[in-house]
Amino acid sequence: MYVASFNCRNFPRLKALLVSLPSHKNYNGRSMINRKISVIGLGYVGLPVAVAFGKCQQVIGFDVKRERIEELQRGIDRTQEVSAQELAESNILYTNNAKDLAKADFHIIAVPTPIDRARKPDLRPLYRAVHVLGNQLKKGDIVVIESTVYPGITEEECGPILEAESRLTCGEDFFLGYSPERINPGDKEHTFTKITKVVSGQTPEVLDIVAAVYGSVVTAGVHKAASIKVAEAAKVIENTQRDLNIALMNELALVFDRLDIDTQDVLQAAGTKWNFLPFKPGLVGGHCIGVDPYYLTYKAEMLGYHPDVILAGRRINDGVGEFIAHKGILELTRAGKCVKGARVAVLGLTFKENCPDLRNSRVIDVINTFNSFEVELMVHDPIADVEEARMEYGVDLVGFDAIKDIDLLVITVAHEPFTGLSLAEVQSMLSPRGAVLDVKGIMDRDAFARGGVSLWRL
Ligand SMILES: NC(=O)c1ccc[n+]([C@@H]2O[C@H](COP(=O)([O-])OP(=O)(O)OC[C@H]3O[C@@H](n4cnc5c(N)ncnc54)[C@H](O)[C@@H]3O)[C@@H](O)[C@H]2O)c1
Repeated sequence: MYVASFNCRNFPRLKALLVSLPSHKNYNGRSMINRKISVIGLGYVGLPVAVAFGKCQQVIGFDVKRERIEELQRGIDRTQEVSAQELAESNILYTNNAKDLAKADFHIIAVPTPIDRARKPDLRPLYRAVHVLGNQLKKGDIVVIESTVYPGITEEECGPILEAESRLTCGEDFFLGYSPERINPGDKEHTFTKITKVVSGQTPEVLDIVAAVYGSVVTAGVHKAASIKVAEAAKVIENTQRDLNIALMNELALVFDRLDIDTQDVLQAAGTKWNFLPFKPGLVGGHCIGVDPYYLTYKAEMLGYHPDVILAGRRINDGVGEFIAHKGILELTRAGKCVKGARVAVLGLTFKENCPDLRNSRVIDVINTFNSFEVELMVHDPIADVEEARMEYGVDLVGFDAIKDIDLLVITVAHEPFTGLSLAEVQSMLSPRGAVLDVKGIMDRDAFARGGVSLWRL
């Protein structure tokens, strides 16, 4: 059911529940959403959520990372999702003291749900958050998970942990909800309040409250999912579908490369059909599209089903970095360059354009493959944090000025400063017969052809 906006008359059973819940004994009948909100995990997802609610009421913003709390207290958001002005305009108590969570009765959990090195779900941050919250839980509280999970985690895993820690009964004393997040880092158009929010609740009454709370800030409206598991599944399949569509494009790129035809040209021609979907090949990184399908496949395998199609797509997408680097080695050889010691520059390390997020960037596959050929590699990224790049990947980023006398230039991320590069600027970076790999297809191919510079694109 789609609910465009909150209206008290739409929730007749809600008042009864609110009155029955101890935390609402003082409910005055004016607003059904007089819930005090806490947000646990103030990252790319949690901070915009806290800020949206913090414009209407005081929000408890809890994060385990002291550094993050201190930065936010100083009005700095290193993820660049929220401006200093928006931070200043929102009323958030930034804290890493778990006891502050007891001041709230509607808790939103937005902690990371990554995969481990074996590509299995790593639920430790989520379980840690749930343990900490459980200790502060009171009768009448509602706990809504926003982190991406596989169906069943909220009710079958988190519920029992909360019960054990709080000594309260789930579904009687406190209640669960799940509301997946759909924000797209770096996208200033599709922001938290402008994306339809899928909501779910343990009971119809709780669903009404969850819908009302989110509906009070999400102007795009809420969609009431049939159950918590449905909402959990909806999130993972959104990203799984995207992953598979990109995998198809990547597979086509591998085929067209063997046919010596340009994939972008083919897609442009096919795209003139009304129902051809506009996906492109590329590196699938980040902690959503390249990660979430593994949550679904993990659960499917637990249930005895091997999801061939989803895992095939993952395999193809995970192999693209190596393919790009091998293409580069071929270009060097064609240009008559000695591979060992060739000067190779990679432009872009973050997982997507104009976003500082380095997590699970597949550019590292390109880098590692080049390193295995012992080229002289340098990596430049104008947005990535230098220290984080070193810590996360052991990559020492260089400044733009260091990109000189390059035998192979690999443009991996379409950051704004790179999209504006002219042929002359690129030529000034290259050595004689230097070549370019344009992974994102952002260079002017005709100009490069006229200028006699070898340009390959995925
Ligand atoms: N970033 C996205 O584009 C996006 C979009 C949709 C959904 N998601 C999902 O949302 C969830 C959060 O992702 P994110 O990108 O915001 O992650 P993030 O790493 O940017 O932020 C998570 C925050 O949680 C904190 N944290 C970690 N463990 C904690 C704990 N036990 N208690 C309290 N705080 C803790 C971290 O310090 C960090 O500040 C993930 O499940 C992710 O898959 C992310």
